[in-house]
Amino acid sequence: MDKWINIALPKGRLGKKVNDLLRKSGYGYEEPSDDNRKLVLVNEDKKIRFFQVKPSDVTIYVERGAADVGIAGEDIILEHEPDVYELMDLGIGKCRMAEAAPKGWHENSERTLRVATKFPNIARTYFDGENRDIDIIELHGSIELAPIVGLSDVIVDIVETGTTLRENDLEVVETIVQISARLIANKASFQFKTEEIVALRDALAAELWGKGESK
Ligand code: PRP
Repeated sequence: MDKWINIALPKGRLGKKVNDLLRKSGYGYEEPSDDNRKLVLVNEDKKIRFFQVKPSDVTIYVERGAADVGIAGEDIILEHEPDVYELMDLGIGKCRMAEAAPKGWHENSERTLRVATKFPNIARTYFDGENRDIDIIELHGSIELAPIVGLSDVIVDIVETGTTLRENDLEVVETIVQISARLIANKASFQFKTEEIVALRDALAAELWGKGESK
C-alpha cells in the first residue's frame, strides 16, 4: 500500500465519534487543541490526510474527488444524492429525521403547510409522498425557532436526544427516516486506490464488529 488517501471528516458532534472510531481502528491522528484552526491533519504511517470539513460539505469533497473517501451522515447523503459509492453503514451518529410541531398542533389540510428545514430535498420528497402541498422555508440552523415565532407551521429536522424539541415545547409528528453515519468513496478513487480504501474499511469494520468484514 503505497498510495496516500485523503479523507473528508465531519467537524462537530459526529466528528468526535468519528475521531474516536478512527483512533481505535489504528487510523488516528494527533488532534489539534480546540483553539487550533488547522484543517488538514496527517497520519504519516498510514499515509492519510484528514480534511476537517462542515458535515454538510463532506459529500461535495468526495463526489468531486478532492477527498477519496469521507464519513457523512445519511441525512446529508439523502439531501444531496451525491454520485459516490456508499461502502458501509458505520452505525454511529444514530438519530432520526422527523417532522415536528408545537405540542398540540393540529393540521389544517386546506392550507399550504409551511415547513422550515435545512433539508429541502428530503422534506419535499416526504410531503410529495403524502400528497401534501408545502411551502419550504430554508434555514441554516436553529430550525426549532421557526414554528415558535410563527415563521412556519412545522419543521423537518434531525432529532438525536430530543432535548432541543423538549426545551422548546415541540414534539415529533412523524419519523421520516432513521439516520446513521456512512463511509463513502469517490468512484474513480475506489478503482485506483482499492487496496488502501478496502484496508481502511476493514479496519473500521473490525473495530465496530470485531471482524474484518463490512456489514
Ligand atoms: C441539530 C438539529 C437539532 C438538534 C437535535 O442541530 O438541527 O436542532 O441538533 O439534537 P437533539 O435532539 O439531541 O436536541 P445542531 O446542533 O447541528 O445545530 P443547528 O441548530 O445550528 O443546526
